[in-house]
Amino acid sequence: MNNLVSRSGPLRGTMTVPGDKSISHRSVMIGALADGVTEITGFLAAADPLSTLSCFSALGIAHRFEYDKLLIVGKGLRGLRGTDTVLDAGNSGTTIRLISGILAGQSFQTRISGDQYLIKRPMKRIIDPLSQMGAMITSTEKFTAPLTIDPVVNLRPIDYELPIASAQVKSAVLLAGLFAEGTTRVIEHEPSRDHTERMLGLSTSHEHGKNVISVNGGTMLKARPFIVPGDPSSAAFFIVAALIVPGSEITITNVGLNPTRIGFLSILRHMGASISIENERTVGGEPIGDLTVRHSDLRSNISVTGEIIPNVIDELPILSIAAAFASGTFEVRGAQDLRNKETDRIQAVCTNLRKLGLTVEEYPDGFAFESKKDLLSSDFDSFDDHRIAMAFGIAALALPKESTILNAECVSISFPTFWETVRSIQR
Ligand code: S3P
Repeated sequence: MNNLVSRSGPLRGTMTVPGDKSISHRSVMIGALADGVTEITGFLAAADPLSTLSCFSALGIAHRFEYDKLLIVGKGLRGLRGTDTVLDAGNSGTTIRLISGILAGQSFQTRISGDQYLIKRPMKRIIDPLSQMGAMITSTEKFTAPLTIDPVVNLRPIDYELPIASAQVKSAVLLAGLFAEGTTRVIEHEPSRDHTERMLGLSTSHEHGKNVISVNGGTMLKARPFIVPGDPSSAAFFIVAALIVPGSEITITNVGLNPTRIGFLSILRHMGASISIENERTVGGEPIGDLTVRHSDLRSNISVTGEIIPNVIDELPILSIAAAFASGTFEVRGAQDLRNKETDRIQAVCTNLRKLGLTVEEYPDGFAFESKKDLLSSDFDSFDDHRIAMAFGIAALALPKESTILNAECVSISFPTFWETVRSIQR
């Protein structure tokens, strides 16, 4: 499906965004391993978390939707059941990488694969540490899925210093650590999202500028309710929309404000964005709040690099749209992992920014451009990547003529109601 998007009048109103994708995945996984029924409020019923849910159904975990809640009938740490079917992680990197940590410690063999995009994404990053723990994982020669994970009796605890900043790798090792004999420690140099450690109640210490997260093997998990906040990565699209469409003022309620996720707010504020946060509170162990955003004259002259990259990794496409409508230069460096996402997001962003009429420098680890006035409408390829579709869909709201987003239905991965939500705040 291609979507036509016209220049928009002011965006106004109060809205919410769907539940956090990262927390939704984890609530199913942890719920499956817990004893008792886990009640999840605000679960993101989008394609990616539903892939996680269907993998656990195949592993013998029952669930049901009741009103606004998803209930997971956990079977305890050793309760998963083997299956002959190949688990399907769909498009979801979080599903395949985190679940591999769990499957590595089972007494049965599992095979897992995914769609045409997922089977190209790197899995060596989890195969290496899990193999050090004694896991038996076979992949393709290129260290990609399909993965076959053979049974083991117990895993070995390790101290693992993350060679790349990745919450998915960190989480895979921590989840595997539940099945190890002893204490597994993950050491990270650059902080990445910390939902797994929060939801498992793990202890984190700070040693010589690094985070050290420990998990004790065999820890029994008791079912407890999870409340999923609105996804800040989804809110980011509407925040930028309000900033670039003249006359806009919107309020987004119940947005997750975990410090490991909101680096994009600091960057936007640095660019002159008017964003206020009210009603700050903690719900289910995560900070949340209501954000009010007003149209602002943005100036960039900014280089996004270093420690903040893991914090803003999913927001770089939409931040580049904010910068395209700002005055000044914008540079992203040290973000080579952006090439390993649902698509090569460096290449996808550069291709589409050039269609806006910008001269863009592409680097192995990022890109740079100087903004200019009179950006152009165009046909923007989504590259079947939800965040590329949404970023350029938002750009189109502030372009002079109608634009087309190709294969716009891929928003179903994280935000199935994205296009309706855009229409709902157009006045
Ligand atoms: C995620 C971690 C990030 C992020 C992805 C979700 C998670 O990936 O890009 O959308 O839920 O742990 P990496 O940890 O590979 O950077």
